[in-house]
Amino acid sequence: MDREFVKKRKMSNNDDACYLKEKLDNGIPQISLMFSLTEEVGTLARTLKLFEENNVNLLHIESRPSKSTGNEYEFLVTCEDTGDQLGMFIEKLKLKAATVHTLSREPSSSDTIPWFPRRIRDLDRFANQILSYGHELNSDHPGFTDKVYRARRKEFADIAFNYKHGQPIPHVTYTDAEIDTWKTIFTKLTELHPKHACSQYNRIFPLLVQNCGYNADNIPQLQEVSDFLKDCTGFTLRPVAGLLSSRDFLAGLAFRVFHSTQYIRHGSTPMYTPEPDICHELIGHVPLFADPAFAQFSQEIGLASLGSPDEYVEKLATCYWFTVEFGLCRQNKELKAYGAGLLSSFGELQYCVSDKPKVLPFEPSKTGEQKYPITEYQPIYFESDSFEQAMEQMKSFAASIPRPFTVYYNPYTQTVEVLDKKHKLKDLATNIKGELITLIDAISKVK
Ligand SMILES: [Fe+2]
Repeated sequence: MDREFVKKRKMSNNDDACYLKEKLDNGIPQISLMFSLTEEVGTLARTLKLFEENNVNLLHIESRPSKSTGNEYEFLVTCEDTGDQLGMFIEKLKLKAATVHTLSREPSSSDTIPWFPRRIRDLDRFANQILSYGHELNSDHPGFTDKVYRARRKEFADIAFNYKHGQPIPHVTYTDAEIDTWKTIFTKLTELHPKHACSQYNRIFPLLVQNCGYNADNIPQLQEVSDFLKDCTGFTLRPVAGLLSSRDFLAGLAFRVFHSTQYIRHGSTPMYTPEPDICHELIGHVPLFADPAFAQFSQEIGLASLGSPDEYVEKLATCYWFTVEFGLCRQNKELKAYGAGLLSSFGELQYCVSDKPKVLPFEPSKTGEQKYPITEYQPIYFESDSFEQAMEQMKSFAASIPRPFTVYYNPYTQTVEVLDKKHKLKDLATNIKGELITLIDAISKVK
């Protein structure tokens, strides 16, 4: 592989950045592509020659060893988008490269609106822009030295990596050892839920037993669970190959899509996992996504994140952490858990409703600033009176985010619309009831 060339390009990143900005200022459309090449001498040089032969102006290139295959390198390139000519070039590139993905981040028609997914299938564009691939485990991970477990994790990561919107989520046959791990967790947690989980959770859980094969001896299939959620609230599950950025993960919620893991934690530590696994997703998250008010609340966080400045995405991710992951509510004067991190943790579920932690009222502007530990029980939790109230609070907070446009989710087309024209507001006012807060916010911003 042409390591020297890549190294030099990496070292000249600052120059590239300046050049990119100059090009953007000139308004020349750009496109980003990711392709992988098998590692052998001269491959990259031959591929770059293809750019030259087709008059494709290469603006930026980065490389890394392939996350999915040992003998390949992946390249992220940005080049000028010459329309049809570039399309023909991409077809030629596909003949040379093992894989080619278009990761277009073209500027929007309006300078004030950054790119974000507008259609549900746009989630395919960043689904594989993951911060770590599923089988890349840290040295302190319980499965770090277990080759069989790591190979299994790669199988799951590959399923997610190859998944595209609209496809059925592949059925997985879990091993007896995996089912044993699930059984241990399922049995212990379901003993605690009637006492400590919120009423919505306890109302929905029996429906999952009835409809989706939730029981101690069976790990439910993501597709069946996704179908059930779709019938209840329109939420769907999508397998994810690794850790997504906060921005990309929250963008999924805007479309009522929850990125879900499919693998199970290492069998040596059934009551501990350093990362989300299928027990956390199915036992912790899924039941509440079948509740209409909670589903709407979750979607509000996602919608608020679209096109928002990074510091606000951070605040929204923190609000997500203290609600969807670790939220508490008060029902009949008793604290109950609704956060998935609590509902899927035997120890923390009992701790969070004890008198040990501090419990504060949920207020997005303040909650979004709260620091929190990741590897230990939370010292502070936030409680909400109801999901409806939390949703309204999120809407108010979203209106305070400095972005000069308002977004609206059209459930009929599964698209996000930017409410920046009067006729769109009229359509909304005519056709949509119950979206009054969004409408008022948009009217206040449209000149
Ligand atoms: Fe989670």
